[in-house]
Amino acid sequence: MENAALLQSEFSRIGEFFEPYLESVIPGEGLEQQVVADAMRYSLLSGGKRIRPFLLLTCYRLAGGEEREALPLAAALEMIHAYSLIHDDLPCMDNDDFRRGRPTNHKVYGEAMAVLAGDGLLTHAFETAVKAPIQPERLLSAIRELAQAAGLYGMLGGQSIDVESEKKQFLLTETQMRQMYAMKTGALLKGACRIAFAAAGVSGKPLEAVTIYAQELGLTFQIVDDLLDRIGSFEELGKPIGSDAKNEKTTFATLHSIEECRELARRHTENAVAACAALPDSKVLKALAWYLLERRK
Ligand code: IPE
Ligand code: IPE
Ligand code: MG
Ligand code: MG
Ligand code: MG
Repeated sequence: MENAALLQSEFSRIGEFFEPYLESVIPGEGLEQQVVADAMRYSLLSGGKRIRPFLLLTCYRLAGGEEREALPLAAALEMIHAYSLIHDDLPCMDNDDFRRGRPTNHKVYGEAMAVLAGDGLLTHAFETAVKAPIQPERLLSAIRELAQAAGLYGMLGGQSIDVESEKKQFLLTETQMRQMYAMKTGALLKGACRIAFAAAGVSGKPLEAVTIYAQELGLTFQIVDDLLDRIGSFEELGKPIGSDAKNEKTTFATLHSIEECRELARRHTENAVAACAALPDSKVLKALAWYLLERRK
């Protein structure tokens, strides 16, 4: 099957059981604290490409596991991603009003509730992850990967550097910027792969290869995100164009021309695809890498 068709059919196959599972993990009604549960559901169930859970479930299968066992881990990772977006959009951070074509969480529920909804999703992620029917030692190391991807050395650490570098409080070198991208965006993608491998009990060379794959994917992903912030369309992206310029952020797309960004992103994609050589059955991973390079949303 051609790359795009293969990916499309895998996304819809996985979506068919992932979406109902995700829908089922946060209480829908009848709580005293219903507003915060609604705010959590609003952002978790508002679409999105679902790249991270897709990657996690794909890697779990590739590592020899049965996809459905890893559903709680995939849902947990998507919750952490949704929390990161809610907080990223807050007025004290990127101050954006639209996400996935709808008003951002704080625009609907107010800032205090949006902070709580993010915190709630982060906590609920771990409550959900522990439900995976996976042997305890493996599950423990998968959950450690999840925490590392999200926290100080991962997404949160990267967001912190991002905030500090805004309005040129200090100018990042290109190396520091790569480090920041690797953390704020790369960490959850790398986490997806490493959580899956940890849960399946796979280490050694394949783990090293999938880690390199995901690191390269992460760089491509954020470079393309920066490019789309300059030249994408609101209709396709569902989030504002020009958010980075508004916040006076230095990004790859301000340091380099559009053509140079495309070239850089292509190089990282080629590296990701090359890393797949050491993995069994990596067709879907390769197709995902090419898709993320060409994406317009
Ligand atoms: C957006 O991530 C945040 C970044 C890391 C750039 P996605 O582009 O995966 O967002 P959704 O989940 O598809 O909305
Ligand atoms: C944010 O990067 C990455 C996160 C960890 C949320 P951006 O701030 O560029 O993401 P978008 O463009 O708002 O989705
Ligand atoms: Mg941001
Ligand atoms: Mg943002
Ligand atoms: Mg962006």
